[in-house]
Amino acid sequence: MAETKKEALLFTRVNKDTQSLPVSIEDWEQKAREILPDGPFDYIAGGSGAEETLASNRTAFSKWAIVPRMMRDVTNRTMSISLYNQALRTPIMLAPVGMQAIAHPEGELATARAAKEAGVPLVVSTVSAHSMEQIAEVMGDAPRWFQLYWSNDREVSASMVKRAEAAGYSAIVLTVDTIMLGWKRRDFRNGYSPLREGKGVANYITDPVLCSRLTEVTPENVVEEILKNIYHPALNWNDIAFLREQTSLPILVKGILHPDDARLAVEHGVDGIIVSNHGGRQMDGAISTLEALPAIAKVVAGKIPVLLDSGVRTGADVVKAIALGANAVLIGRPFLFGLAVAGEKGVASVLDTLINELDVAMALSGSNSVADLNESILARM
Ligand SMILES: Cc1cc2nc3c(=O)[nH]c(=O)nc-3n(C[C@H](O)[C@H](O)[C@H](O)COP(=O)(O)O)c2cc1C
Repeated sequence: MAETKKEALLFTRVNKDTQSLPVSIEDWEQKAREILPDGPFDYIAGGSGAEETLASNRTAFSKWAIVPRMMRDVTNRTMSISLYNQALRTPIMLAPVGMQAIAHPEGELATARAAKEAGVPLVVSTVSAHSMEQIAEVMGDAPRWFQLYWSNDREVSASMVKRAEAAGYSAIVLTVDTIMLGWKRRDFRNGYSPLREGKGVANYITDPVLCSRLTEVTPENVVEEILKNIYHPALNWNDIAFLREQTSLPILVKGILHPDDARLAVEHGVDGIIVSNHGGRQMDGAISTLEALPAIAKVVAGKIPVLLDSGVRTGADVVKAIALGANAVLIGRPFLFGLAVAGEKGVASVLDTLINELDVAMALSGSNSVADLNESILARM
């Protein structure tokens, strides 16, 4: 609580250090657009198909308005939450984003340093540009989860999960909406595939099981093996049992949009759900996550945590998502734009902005804690 107040006082956009940095995600995106070549920029910013879901992830937030409460003495407020017995400073996390070296040469290592400094948990992607062990080394005991892309060779999945557990990751996030890659027109136009270019090999080229499958371990052979494994249309609920045998860590499924799938997740003993449409990068035409959230929160009924990503850009967005039933939110592109423009400093600044916006939004909505946020402060437009 004291920390929050201090931050609010210290937080200023008029000192020399921060003045030159953008103050909104739109500004960060614009700067990233100026810096990055078309291939990487469009890969990051773009969505699949006609990008309808990419757009509706944002419009969904403007369909809800905050109806703030007054006269509530918000002097002693806190943004802190607890997730899987871990005390977190805020309900904001960094979503798994692969191949971050396409945005900045330091990639995930810069992101990891900023996350650690801000006390914001980082979810590390299977297709990261640095290995999960290298990223863990940077983070020390700072909170981190590992995101798993299933492999057809499930012993590779098992190996990665065990490595993650050994490297201090405290939860496994199984992404279930990417059984194959979404149809991304911008990438076709640009002829750009960072996966094929080998930008996401770090966790595979260091994996003893995956390497044992190759006659010769070369980057090219590893890429071919990744491509064989990453297309995994057979993924189904029975695979959760296999995953459960590999680890004692909490298992979350990322990419749930249908309340019936949320029910199945609970029935299969999953420990958490991330309501996500991959930032509009997979099934175009899919429901926005904020629209999907209330029905999922209702089905889950507090049995396991429900997180949300896709389209979160402001402190007010975080308030809305939590008021509609999310325990926490994750951001993807916003921190990646920060990374592209200013490396670690950029990620730090994006987080600083969002956290302070959340603090102000909670105060001005009359909320002393995350637990105070509920539908009573929302109106449907
Ligand atoms: C460039 C990029 C790469 C991504 N890579 C992964 C990934 O490796 N694994 C994963 O589960 N999700 C991945 N995602 C999806 C994010 O985890 C997250 O769901 C999405 O970015 C949230 O939407 P937002 O960008 O609107 O915040 C990626 C997203 C972007 C933009």
